[in-house]
Amino acid sequence: MNDLSRQAHWQNVYSTRGEREVSWFQERPAVSLDLIRAAGATPASSVIDIGGGASRLVDALLADGFGAVTVLDISEAALSAARQRLGSKAAAVTWIVADVTAWEPTQVYDLWHDRAVLHFLTDAADRAAYVARLGKALRPGGHAVIGTFALDGPERCSGLPVVRYDGKGLADLLGPNFMLIDTRTDAHQTPMGGVQRFQFSLFRRR
Ligand SMILES: C[S@@+](CC[C@H](N)C(=O)[O-])C[C@H]1O[C@@H](n2cnc3c(N)ncnc32)[C@H](O)[C@@H]1O
Repeated sequence: MNDLSRQAHWQNVYSTRGEREVSWFQERPAVSLDLIRAAGATPASSVIDIGGGASRLVDALLADGFGAVTVLDISEAALSAARQRLGSKAAAVTWIVADVTAWEPTQVYDLWHDRAVLHFLTDAADRAAYVARLGKALRPGGHAVIGTFALDGPERCSGLPVVRYDGKGLADLLGPNFMLIDTRTDAHQTPMGGVQRFQFSLFRRR
């Protein structure tokens, strides 16, 4: 999928579906928040949510007092939905419309979070571009929390093929600069009543 059709796909999803009409909706991203806590993040930590879409992770981080939160997504419509929901609180967040595989980070972050974005990168060149951005954007000693469909999870999401991972597979992809600290599995209940098996892994950048 080229960059333009990728962006068109996600713009279309967020322009035509409500928050609870997408399979990945979560009222509260509990596993992500647990691992962000396990990483030792504090309200002073800078956090970037990669492909955050309209996720409520940003709401939870703001409620916990995090003051340096960035949400990046390829879809402007997704970020608009999140901004609208947050109202005046949205001004405290940095919003970036970009494809993570082409984005040039301009600062380093303490924590990188990604739920269900990396798994869409089915081309090796895109995965390498993702890992290069992760290496640039995360400070040495910083942490990454990456959630993807698990090895026994669905083969497709939002009509697109995905690559499924376990912690070891993700560690192999990220390479020796990233130390695997924890892996959890999660059975996500979709708003439509289905179950999707995820894995979430926590890494520390050496
Ligand atoms: C399955 S949704 C997950 C959204 C959010 N992380 C959550 O947990 O609710 C995938 C998200 O990744 C975004 N996305 C897909 N490919 C991307 C890319 N190459 N760069 C940045 N964002 C991307 C989509 O717009 C969408 O918001």
